[in-house]
Amino acid sequence: MAKSILVANWKNHPGSLAETKTLLAQLARSASIYKKLACFIAPPLTYFGVCSERSRNFAHLASQDISSQPVGTYTGQITTDILKSFGTKLAIIGHSEQRAMGETNESVSQKVKVALRAGIMPLVCIGETFRDQDGEHFEFLRNELQSSLAGLNRKSDISGLVLAYEPVWAIGKHAQDAITPTDLSQSIIFLKKILTDMFGRAIAERVPILYGGSVEPDNAGVLFKETGIKGFLVGHASLNAQSFKTIAVSIISKQ
Ligand code: PGA
Repeated sequence: MAKSILVANWKNHPGSLAETKTLLAQLARSASIYKKLACFIAPPLTYFGVCSERSRNFAHLASQDISSQPVGTYTGQITTDILKSFGTKLAIIGHSEQRAMGETNESVSQKVKVALRAGIMPLVCIGETFRDQDGEHFEFLRNELQSSLAGLNRKSDISGLVLAYEPVWAIGKHAQDAITPTDLSQSIIFLKKILTDMFGRAIAERVPILYGGSVEPDNAGVLFKETGIKGFLVGHASLNAQSFKTIAVSIISKQ
């Protein structure tokens, strides 16, 4: 994907349809900015209808998860055919908040395959819970990445995939608590090496890696610059139109 990538992970917000419409209207005012990026909005499923109508001019629709089941009858599951009927282009898979509720590397790798088969881009989230001076988190990252992408080895699989590095300890805080550019660069180099070991350099280099975890207007520019990332997965700051726009501008001015 040539353009830088910006993904809004709305989680379980806004709290009402009315607030969702207000946020969409505010975002739409900066459509010309978002169009310079590959911008995605991942709203709660209940807002898919209104989001697919009102954001299509400046963002693609994304889901926050995906069913591991391709077709059939599964109460409570949202399958790829439903997601695709709304125009969903990307699915966040393996977010740490899902992993905390029982998502395993095995189910992540299954969901990745389901998404790829359906033509939905998987955005696979990985990230350590703790970062220590001994570097033990690198071993955790290696295992999580390898297991989450288990069974993928063809060029065509990998070329449709995006990775999000989201250290769990940095999620849901503020810019000052996020990762430093130096540590982010180190993690990105490491992840690229693992991808290269798994798929070869030429293919690995084409996998975009995003960063997520307390990305705010205050740190977006410095984190984007010279760390090797291709964009951001933004949680709380994506619910504030002004903050999200500033993050978008930071990327555009540094790409
Ligand atoms: P945050 O969330 O930006 O609020 O830290 C990021 C995420 O959980 O994807």
